[in-house]
Amino acid sequence: MSVDINTRIIGTGKYKAEGVLTNHDLEKMVDTSDQWITERTGISERRIAPKDVATSDMAAGAVKEALDMAGKKPDDIDMIICGTVTGDMPLPSTAAMIQKKIGASNMCPAFDVSAACAGFIYGLSVADAFIKTGKAKTVAIVGTEMLTRFMDFEDRNTCVLFGDGAGAVIATADQSDRGILSTHLYTDSSLTAALQIPGGGSLEPASAETIANRRHFIQMEGREVFKVAVKYLSDAAETAVKANGYSVDDVNVVSAHQANMRILSAVSKRVNIPLEKFALNLKYYGNTSSASIPISLDEAVREGKVSENDLVLMIALGGGISWGSALIKW
Ligand code: ACO
Repeated sequence: MSVDINTRIIGTGKYKAEGVLTNHDLEKMVDTSDQWITERTGISERRIAPKDVATSDMAAGAVKEALDMAGKKPDDIDMIICGTVTGDMPLPSTAAMIQKKIGASNMCPAFDVSAACAGFIYGLSVADAFIKTGKAKTVAIVGTEMLTRFMDFEDRNTCVLFGDGAGAVIATADQSDRGILSTHLYTDSSLTAALQIPGGGSLEPASAETIANRRHFIQMEGREVFKVAVKYLSDAAETAVKANGYSVDDVNVVSAHQANMRILSAVSKRVNIPLEKFALNLKYYGNTSSASIPISLDEAVREGKVSENDLVLMIALGGGISWGSALIKW
């Protein structure tokens, strides 16, 4: 493996779904309140994509924006990696649909990774490995989720939490010392049942019964996830920083998966990185799973909050339980 190649992010983009569902709207749908949702989660509203928009449409929009920033054309990409658990359909991959919708005709490999809210970091890690081994030069990595279509709008435990959206980055081989310094990935399978969509797969194929039993919607044991989230995310943040010989004080920007403000506040305290360094948008998007990091990163970049040579720490955790980190010298 060549030590001279670095993986540098040269473009970011997002798709912001136009529909807005506020906490007050949800008060009319389930037994909840703006106060409960705000205090327990930090979410005020979430975005909902129009009915005729698919997960791959949102992703393609985000990739096109990232390509523009990178000054690249669709055919300059030699790999597309899509993190999603709410793809267009089980077959083919959403990444294949993205290739078509961005107008790429170079037949580059395109595939999905399934790691729930950690999908973007898993995808970034795979891209980094391909680039550093010289097997790919310019890769589009996307996080895209249409969570509101997998939501049981009769279940107040879940329907207040999630939103739609997509974010993308273009990463390319670079000779400078800037780029991805490390990625670390983890899975704890003792909690697979804490976050799942039980119906529609090989275990419970779609049937009138699975539909009647609402098995195609997200089910979550929020308390179980919460318990491990703070520890796993904090440990991942500390490991990433130490592995590269830095201290937490050196981190300039944290781009974290955003499921709950209380989780992020607890991680911030435990790791000792002030919340002001976190690129946050949970209040306006809700939990967008794999899209949450690339959307908030894109917003931070476009608002001038990320400067050349800044140390950017990414951390995410979701169903699996799968989690991970990436440390980037911007
Ligand atoms: N409105 C009003 N009351 C509610 C609502 C609601 N929307 N939802 C739940 N409640 C009630 C519950 O029924 C419960 O009532 P009870 O005490 O009478 O039984 C009470 O509020 C407290 O419920 P908890 O589940 O203990 O609430 P908690 O403080 O844990 O907050 C939450 C729930 C927000 C889900 C939290 O546990 C959480 O954020 N968990 C982590 C989620 C996460 O990180 N997911 C990972 C990523 S998602 C992915 O991978 C796709």
